[in-house]
Amino acid sequence: MLSRVDSRSSGFSNVAASAVSFSDGPLFKSGCGPLLSQVSQLVRSSPLRAIFSDIHGNLDALEAVLADIKEQKIDEIYCLGDIVGYGPNPRECIDRVREHCTASLLGNHDQGALFDPEGFNAGAERAIFWTRSVLETGPGSEDRWEFLGDLPRVIKEPDHLFVHGSARNPLNEYVFPEDIYNQRKMERIFSLVEKNCFQGHTHIPGVFTEDMNFLTPEEVDFEYQLVNQKHLVNVGSVGQPRNGVPQSSYVILDGDTVRFRRVDYDVDATANKIYAIPELDNFLGDRLRDGR
Ligand SMILES: [Fe+2]
Repeated sequence: MLSRVDSRSSGFSNVAASAVSFSDGPLFKSGCGPLLSQVSQLVRSSPLRAIFSDIHGNLDALEAVLADIKEQKIDEIYCLGDIVGYGPNPRECIDRVREHCTASLLGNHDQGALFDPEGFNAGAERAIFWTRSVLETGPGSEDRWEFLGDLPRVIKEPDHLFVHGSARNPLNEYVFPEDIYNQRKMERIFSLVEKNCFQGHTHIPGVFTEDMNFLTPEEVDFEYQLVNQKHLVNVGSVGQPRNGVPQSSYVILDGDTVRFRRVDYDVDATANKIYAIPELDNFLGDRLRDGR
């Protein structure tokens, strides 16, 4: 079902390999989850899929989102990258993604942790060097590095493309709402998309339509039909929202219907962890309270 494009490694990663077959990649590895998942897929034409992005080391947010996903009886979870960077729990977030996600992509901050960060501001660069130092130590560090190093940049399916940034530059290009006024940029990006592209990176959820509109989740009452034209769907951010809403964002894809979810988490707990780590600027905690 999946094909990997432009992987940094020569072979399929464990995560991508498990994404090829539903049967050997249960979503939640306890209780009756796998059986329910397989039964629900038998009666559906396509799997019920949760798609999230930009966790940024925020474990409190990720655990709240995973709990919400569990309640929705989801078959598969896709993560669009930036598992680490900015936040206080990079190890734990990688471990949760490895455990729960059917597939995951490499984000620019994940790459920054692996290699030298490029184009980062001073605060983001300090955070990524601290993140790297945490990932280099402790039990399981080699497995985590290997996992990050094997992440693909693109997942391509017949109707759906999955990237961190954009179809044109999967790792680094931002597609902001105001880009609907940049016709040349949007036409070029849409020309690279067969039908729908799911992306993150800006931390601003919403739908871009091929006729140059951007629709916020509120404007579509949190549900949108991906029909009649091509779409770019930004799934928002789990761990560092920038849409003025402090809740985590993710989407559920159910056939042609995309549903935007908002999830409360303990923002103060994460902010306090950030304040306690000298290498992470206090601003990184402050911004979580406003979703900026
Ligand atoms: Fe990000």
